[in-house]
Amino acid sequence: MSLPIIGYLDPAFFELLDELSGMLGEVFKTKQRAFAVAGAGSAGMEAGLVSLAAPGDTVIICSYGYFCERQIIMAERLGFNVIALRTEWGKSMDPQVLADALKEHPETQLVVGIHAETSAGTIQPIAEFARLAHEAGALFMTDVVTSLAGCELEFDEWDLDFAYSGSQKCLAAPPGISPVALSERALDYIRNRPVPPTSWYLDLSLIADYWGPDHVAHHTAPVSMIYGLREAVGMVLNETLATRWKRHEANADALRAGLEALNLDMPISKEERLDQLTVIKLPKGVDDVKLRTQLLDEYSIEVGRGLGKFAGEVIRIGLMGESCVPANVFALLNALEKVLPDHGFEVAKGAATAAASAKLAENPSPLYTA
Ligand SMILES: Cc1ncc(COP(=O)(O)O)c(C=O)c1O
Repeated sequence: MSLPIIGYLDPAFFELLDELSGMLGEVFKTKQRAFAVAGAGSAGMEAGLVSLAAPGDTVIICSYGYFCERQIIMAERLGFNVIALRTEWGKSMDPQVLADALKEHPETQLVVGIHAETSAGTIQPIAEFARLAHEAGALFMTDVVTSLAGCELEFDEWDLDFAYSGSQKCLAAPPGISPVALSERALDYIRNRPVPPTSWYLDLSLIADYWGPDHVAHHTAPVSMIYGLREAVGMVLNETLATRWKRHEANADALRAGLEALNLDMPISKEERLDQLTVIKLPKGVDDVKLRTQLLDEYSIEVGRGLGKFAGEVIRIGLMGESCVPANVFALLNALEKVLPDHGFEVAKGAATAAASAKLAENPSPLYTA
């Protein structure tokens, strides 16, 4: 990112865009369009919504967490007729709920469903959501902010229309750029819709044209962020996607074994939980803010707070990208063992790290060398 900055319309920069677009295609597993929206993951979210439906259109949003609720807020501001399908936080949504809603609303233009809900720690059956949406003649858009490069994602095979991510999660780049994939079907819709998207800046067809073969000028691209993203995506491809997915799975497995040995309650079921993000229910009497502050101040470990409905009830442990290595699993388990008794929650000494070690012996983490 500290390389000299060149112009966003410099032919040398176009070469870099072409290369990065191909690399992103490999990460999203698509032969269709892959590029990046200048902005945080939420910019990718807003770009998808504003581009794939028009004011007054019916948009179904599957909601099972805090970030789904953000999509609903955005969609309402955009003047869509929003149908929110709410499922209990901590659960995967039953696709039948979507099938029924599509039957009731055959006019639906767009279905939205998050793949990995970071606030609730759940994985969702988006391939099935996409199939149902298409069967009903709607487009399907998803959020892969936490899933991209951390677990299986197959943009083309699952027949997705739009997926947006963030640079700061499993891609392990600085925050501020949103890698996306867009289907030709969705691009066709945007190019031919009766009225253009109400946002010019976030019109995905214009951004796709800048990243496409003609490199049509749009806003000035964030050149240094694009250098950084190329480096991070290159590191993912060097590691290979399969190894990176495996690394997330093995370290999460070790972490969970250690947390279990500490008698901590992980409320998300095996089938529904994420590897990238583990939700722990706070034991009775343990104060959320005090615990997290102590971990940060004394051990330099930041764990996530509960968001929305889960605020004050859970803590969320992220193991993503660079941070997803055994050394961090052991550091956190050791810190929890030391800290929890200060909060009145007694734990067995040495049990957590022993359990994590045993799990890693059985299911080893691939060695990570950047
Ligand atoms: C699932 C999900 N979607 C969207 C976002 C928003 O991303 P950003 O904060 O980069 O705007 C996040 C952030 O954590 C997320 O976890």
